[in-house]
Amino acid sequence: MTIENRKIDHIRIINEENVSHDHNYWNDIEIMQTSMPEIDFDEIDTSVELLGQKLRLPLVISSMTGGHPETKKINENLARAAAEKGIGMGVGSERAAIANRDLGDTYSVIADYDVPLRIANIGAPQLIKQEKLALTDSEIEYAVELVKAHALAVHFNFVQEMSQPEGDRNSKGIFERLSSVSKKYKVIAKETGAGFSRKDAMNFLTAGVSAIDTGGRSGTSFSAVEYYRSVEKGNLEKEEVAKSLWNWGIPSPFSVIECNVGMPIIASGGVRNGLDVFKGLMLGATASGAASIFLKAALKSHNEVMKTIDTIETELKSAMFLTSSPRIIDIRKTKRVFIGRLNSWMSQA
Ligand SMILES: Cc1cc2nc3c(=O)[nH]c(=O)nc-3n(C[C@H](O)[C@H](O)[C@H](O)COP(=O)(O)O)c2cc1C
Repeated sequence: MTIENRKIDHIRIINEENVSHDHNYWNDIEIMQTSMPEIDFDEIDTSVELLGQKLRLPLVISSMTGGHPETKKINENLARAAAEKGIGMGVGSERAAIANRDLGDTYSVIADYDVPLRIANIGAPQLIKQEKLALTDSEIEYAVELVKAHALAVHFNFVQEMSQPEGDRNSKGIFERLSSVSKKYKVIAKETGAGFSRKDAMNFLTAGVSAIDTGGRSGTSFSAVEYYRSVEKGNLEKEEVAKSLWNWGIPSPFSVIECNVGMPIIASGGVRNGLDVFKGLMLGATASGAASIFLKAALKSHNEVMKTIDTIETELKSAMFLTSSPRIIDIRKTKRVFIGRLNSWMSQA
């Protein structure tokens, strides 16, 4: 199975099957509102600065794709909308283009648009030797230059690696290599659906990472995606393992709280609307990120992506109005109540 084909498998499965975690923990946060806000809706300022780049909305389209000819249009639909709306965007793992440079344009298309924060993407497992050699410094530089990136996301997807038939199983030496890459680039340590803990966040701080994208459990589960791939391949053992790991991980909002260690945070994993964005910011994030809702829109058209961003903006501003928060920084003052399963995490973990 080539990387190219795996990327297309992922898109097809995520678009057609239910691959969500069993619970969305953003639902376990309730917001204290005010019925007498002192605020003019038209004066609400949603702009933020993230990694030195100014965003009109505290929103990032999470890393998803590139690496197969069919993915170029998806990245183009996303990038055009991200530029027009002034939000950040990441590309998917660039391993495919590193291996076959003819696929470079499926990623570099995002550099044709004035996206205010462009994020390159490589996998933490590829920073060290697996069956294949680790990425070299010049290959990493190629990935960053290819999309004219302002920052480099290094994704930690070890739950997926455990769940997939061809998964990488070595992480020895990861801290040292991450520290060395962080000296050269603004690195975003990024999870992909299992969430980082406080211990991880402290390690990232020591390693010199610039930001954390929490990528917690609440939305897309890559074990679920790998479960469907193993069913299709008839790999019974991996099918069982992936099913067992389907709901593995730290809930998205809890991971945001854990990662408050003095670095900018992108809150992600299961973010579906502007209220989820608001909740992430309330817990200390600088911006929120979403993947699967944007994939579904981008598979239709650039216009659908625009509509998705517009709706998120209106929802976010409505919540800001109803909590009397004229600027993003004011959102943190909002009182909140944790209920249900998230409350159990808060009281015990
Ligand atoms: C189709 C698809 C492909 C993805 N590929 C990557 C990837 O290559 N690199 C990465 O860091 N994350 C990847 N992700 C993970 C997302 O960036 C995100 O962390 C995860 O999907 C959780 O967000 P969500 O619940 O909003 O989908 C991918 C997600 C989707 C939906």
